[in-house]
Amino acid sequence: MSNGGDDRSEHELRVSKIRNGTVIDHINGGQALNVLAILGIDGSEGEEISVGMNVPSDRLARKDIVKVEGRELSQDEVDVLSLIAPDATINIVREYDVVEKHRVERPDVVVGVLSCPNDGCISTGEEPVDSRFEVVDDGVRCSYCGTIVREGIASLIET
Ligand code: CTP
Ligand code: ZN
Repeated sequence: MSNGGDDRSEHELRVSKIRNGTVIDHINGGQALNVLAILGIDGSEGEEISVGMNVPSDRLARKDIVKVEGRELSQDEVDVLSLIAPDATINIVREYDVVEKHRVERPDVVVGVLSCPNDGCISTGEEPVDSRFEVVDDGVRCSYCGTIVREGIASLIET
């Protein structure tokens, strides 16, 4: 039987199906741990998580996949995910069926989600100013001080 070209999938199930929750698929290879960081998941709270890293993919050379049992994602979380995993697919699973599937979309701006790494930035001072970053081709740019962040975006997520 043909299954879209990946003969291996007939023989191997790398990561079990989940019952209820979210499958984040088509994550750029190597980014799964950053995805978990964005979701604030480190396993310490007993979260049921499956991770596949650098597995073969039809769409990407290699992809990561993260399955989160019992949790659906907020729009803020999906927005930040899109910055490090622009080709990701979010699949909502209920009673083993994929009931919703959508590609992430890079937002134009993210407000109140990332904190500026520049200590002198007005958004990190005493005054209550919401952080604001414009999403540019190769990263994010602070609207207040112009600092551009290209790598390590996950570590800027406000808790
Ligand atoms: N999945 C899962 N648990 C389920 C249902 C699906 O873990 N109960 C996973 C599948 O293993 C797959 C992803 O969710 O990695 C999407 O499932 P599905 O839409 O059935 O697969 P495809 O059609 O191959 O997805 P796409 O076209 O987005 O590549
Ligand atoms: Zn700034």
